[in-house]
Amino acid sequence: MTATQIRQAFLDFFAAKGHTIVPSAPIVVKDDPTLMFTNAGMNQFKAIFLGEEPAKFPRVADTQRCLRVSGKHNDLEEVGIDTYHHTMFEMLGNWSFGDYFKKEAIDWSWELLTKVYKLDKDRLYVTYFEGDEKEGLAKDTETYDLWKQYVDEAHILPGNKKDNFWEMGETGPCGPCSEIHFDSRPDNERKEVSGAVLVNADHDQVIEIWNNVFMQFNRLKDGSLQSLPAQHVDTGMGFERLVRVLQGKTSNYDTDVFQPMIQFIAEKSGRKYNSAAKPGDNDWSEAVAMRVMADHIRAISFAIADGQLPSNNKAGYVIRRILRRAVRYQYQYLGFKEPFLNQLVPLLAEQFKGVFDELYSQKDFVQKVILEEENSFLRTLENGINRFNNYFINPDYINPNPILKRGLIKGSNREELDKSLHDERSVDNEIVSGSFAFELQDTYGFPIDLTELMAREKGWAVDLKGFEEALQAQKSRSRAATSIDTGDWVVLKDDDKVEFTGYDETETIAHVVKYRKVTAKGKEQYQIVLDKTPFYAESGGQVGDTGELVFPDGEVIEVTDTKKENGLIVHFVDKLPEDIDDALTAIVDNEKRNNTNSNHSATHLLHAAMKQVLGSHVNQKGSLVNAEYLRFDFSHFAKVTEEELARIEAIVNEKIRENIALKEERDVPYDVAIKSGVTALFGEKYGDKVRVITFDDTFSKELCGGTHVKATGYIGYFKIVSESAVAAGVRRIEAITGIAAENFINEQSKLVQQLKELLKNPKDISKSVESLIEENARLKKEIEKSILEKSSGLKDELAQKVENINGINFIAQKVELPNADAIKNVAYQLKDIVSDLFLVLAADIDGKPNLTVMLSENLVKEKGLNAGNIVRELAKEIQGGGGGQPFFATAGGKDVSGIDRALEKAKSFTA
Ligand code: SER
Repeated sequence: MTATQIRQAFLDFFAAKGHTIVPSAPIVVKDDPTLMFTNAGMNQFKAIFLGEEPAKFPRVADTQRCLRVSGKHNDLEEVGIDTYHHTMFEMLGNWSFGDYFKKEAIDWSWELLTKVYKLDKDRLYVTYFEGDEKEGLAKDTETYDLWKQYVDEAHILPGNKKDNFWEMGETGPCGPCSEIHFDSRPDNERKEVSGAVLVNADHDQVIEIWNNVFMQFNRLKDGSLQSLPAQHVDTGMGFERLVRVLQGKTSNYDTDVFQPMIQFIAEKSGRKYNSAAKPGDNDWSEAVAMRVMADHIRAISFAIADGQLPSNNKAGYVIRRILRRAVRYQYQYLGFKEPFLNQLVPLLAEQFKGVFDELYSQKDFVQKVILEEENSFLRTLENGINRFNNYFINPDYINPNPILKRGLIKGSNREELDKSLHDERSVDNEIVSGSFAFELQDTYGFPIDLTELMAREKGWAVDLKGFEEALQAQKSRSRAATSIDTGDWVVLKDDDKVEFTGYDETETIAHVVKYRKVTAKGKEQYQIVLDKTPFYAESGGQVGDTGELVFPDGEVIEVTDTKKENGLIVHFVDKLPEDIDDALTAIVDNEKRNNTNSNHSATHLLHAAMKQVLGSHVNQKGSLVNAEYLRFDFSHFAKVTEEELARIEAIVNEKIRENIALKEERDVPYDVAIKSGVTALFGEKYGDKVRVITFDDTFSKELCGGTHVKATGYIGYFKIVSESAVAAGVRRIEAITGIAAENFINEQSKLVQQLKELLKNPKDISKSVESLIEENARLKKEIEKSILEKSSGLKDELAQKVENINGINFIAQKVELPNADAIKNVAYQLKDIVSDLFLVLAADIDGKPNLTVMLSENLVKEKGLNAGNIVRELAKEIQGGGGGQPFFATAGGKDVSGIDRALEKAKSFTA
């Protein structure tokens, strides 16, 4: 079976068992503060497990793109070194939301593996949870008994909390699990050592392929377990591992999921991929590098396609690090000194066509972003290499710590090391300090192993302990800067449906259903969830509402922000109300909301106008909408011209004047909406029911959860204030509307008024400024001309003053010229007409003394005179300094009164 057939067989199997097939969620997580990237198929269902959102279907199945590169599940360092971990991988999953439980999950997984995929039963091992006394959790005998129907008891293994109790993160839904492992070793090896002892022992041929989690608990912040409202099934099967097992390979990279990519890399690098290379082999590093690239390009591309550009913080930084890891490998081991990684994008996009179309439809954009990142990293790498080489050349950089030298070098044999180092350099310079190695990593992206390798080439060692210390110090610094302590929810009312009323009203009577305390940077805050709320929670670029919660006793609690968290709308407040159980009135700050509405609706009009003017390739890449302005990032490869901007602006304003009424449709089935031609954004997770915002059916139709004006006329006026580049292939427009736009225009016209007055009210200001500029240029030319005339007159005058001393034609004079250029001019002219010239000119330029020395070449060559030395000596008289070439030099100074002394002194050089 090909990978494509294997994936399809999974989905078909579960569809036949009553599961609805749903699309993968984006790989970038937007509304869960505990997670940056989707790390398991169940993430998109977290709110359902926690009872915060109702399930739309009782059973679903899908293939989810996942990334395990940060937080609790982080495999990054293994990737490429071994053959079965990945950054991005597909997780095939089936779910029951309060529907079937252990029995069906186990029956079906066995049926699929042995009947559909026809895996050899003898090679399968299953596990069950052995219980945990500390947690008060019993042994999962039910699972054991269920497996016993199918599996030989010797193949049913108990597992501890680490392996058999699955948790999504530090907090969140969790439960006991049952894993299925496959032993792909040859028969003789299997006879010698039973697979049972190799399960969960990091053996690369005995690997977990499927995990069935029986979700029953919520892990709270205080570490305790709380029972979930219902029991669920969450399963995840690693697609790439499944394919490997079914295709009878010993490495995930040998399957048709990775081979096309690896062969492409091998061909372009002119090397062969040796799947069997072992550490220490000549081609080991090359094989690792090819695997790293074939793997990392997937994570990078899908993250970018899902809206996460590489950047310097948070999720963007994780992506940048993965990208740099890949570039470093291709640079270091495959000889790609120019960008290459980006060339893998078209291949990958083709491979995932029909599975995850997000990449195919944006492949040019994704490739361009990666190319730019490669370019900038290669520059950094080069700077780092220079910095590294300097460290060895310039002893100032070397600061060996004598204590460290006494033996803290990892795995080093002191004697041998000392010997090899002695040959290279003196004993003092043998260790690259930990802090320098850290600087290389932190600033130039050099991982420690690269620094070690480069140091070794020079016969040096790296102080790894010092490096580790520097790394830890930085980690704890950044932890301290960002540490947020979030308490558990205190539940007042069990209410699993939070109603958002803010599309229809900005004041709602409500109750607090839960709250919690949050300590960020030492400051205490509270977060409140209401049963109903008009407060819009930040999303889709629109800021969260602010406003007030007003209580019957008159107490007013200010809401400083509103954010979404999974299914919840969370209000940020500084304190809790006295009477938290009372009904309250939640009131949104209306003025702010209205301005925000204007900016949000204007964003839709802008987006539609841009597609008309620039083309349909324009896709939203980011957006910010608040009460002050709107910011719109979009994919486009060229600067938007003034003319295009003017046309875009004109279209938007025309649509505003048309006063088009808002058409808001809630609960439109997703497919219906897409068929009607709405603009959907990449990287957004849409439910199967969506909200469609339309301003004129033929103009703007977008999937959107934000708040809008009732009719476009409310926007008043739209004005673009800037257009700029934010990243490769991404441009940004900033614009304002309504009162802000009015103020802006008023400012501009005030400025024009002031200019008019300054120019004495001309009919046409730009004409009159133009003629001012022209006149200015003409005057400048005239001045230059008259200086020139003056200096050639001066030249003749000066030539008369020659004094012949010892065969030198000496002139030392004070001249009146307005600038250094004019003096230089005279000096050069004199040199042409006077031979054996030694000229010293002094001038007072706007109160500052200036000295110029000019020598004929023969005086420099034959008499050893040097204008630079002379001018420096003379400059002492004017309290200044200078220099230049041997035949021409100048100096400036502070003391004009020294000019005569300097001229006098000049003569002494003729002797
Ligand atoms: N959530 C479980 C896992 O990630 C099963 O899907 O392994």
